[in-house]
Amino acid sequence: MKIIAPSVLSADFGDLRRDIEMLNRSEAEWIHVDVMDGTFVPNISFGFPVMEPLHKYATKPLDVHLMIVHPEKYVERFCDAGAWSVGFHLEAVDDPMPILDLIKAKGVRTCLTINPDIDVKRLDPYLDKVDMVLLMSVFAGFGGQKFIPETMDKLRYVKQQITARGLNTLIEIDGGVNVDNAADLFANGADVLVAGSAVFKAESPEQAIHQMLN
Ligand code: DX5
Ligand code: ZN
Repeated sequence: MKIIAPSVLSADFGDLRRDIEMLNRSEAEWIHVDVMDGTFVPNISFGFPVMEPLHKYATKPLDVHLMIVHPEKYVERFCDAGAWSVGFHLEAVDDPMPILDLIKAKGVRTCLTINPDIDVKRLDPYLDKVDMVLLMSVFAGFGGQKFIPETMDKLRYVKQQITARGLNTLIEIDGGVNVDNAADLFANGADVLVAGSAVFKAESPEQAIHQMLN
């Protein structure tokens, strides 16, 4: 699978509807929604009020990435706010299973995420329990960072585990993705690439999305 999920973190919030409509026209299949709480990560982005216009105007699935402590308190509200998938960080919780169950009970797809300093093998026990895993290729918290090259080895490792076990779990890569590394990431087993600045800072965002797919 080859999906581009532009992150609205890099959108123009003064003209969010225009940017959403651009994404609707584009070849991007999903829209990535970065929620930061200022505690799990040293930055605050946005929350439920921004889910409203996204849900109202976007014609594409909303892929919600929670960078928050205590995701168990909020996952159901994000499901109700129109999330198509909800992901949270493995290292933010003691036991992800009950939280995954809360999301599944809402009929929403699940995603487990890890930061670059978390051993990728910690995902192994959950590969058959989630719809998707998200490997951060920068430290969660800010757009516009540089891709960490070691992510490629982790991607190959997870892809190999998924294939060997005959699973359909998707792999998403998030952080520093651009027109130069997208093809390599897809070739190494990524299914979904998140791209914030590479899309919204491009002269032609729609063209940038097209190039990442080709
Ligand atoms: C970072 C977020 C990313 C971010 C990606 O914490 O999870 O989704 O928006 O931005 P770029 O593509 O600019 O690295
Ligand atoms: Zn993200």
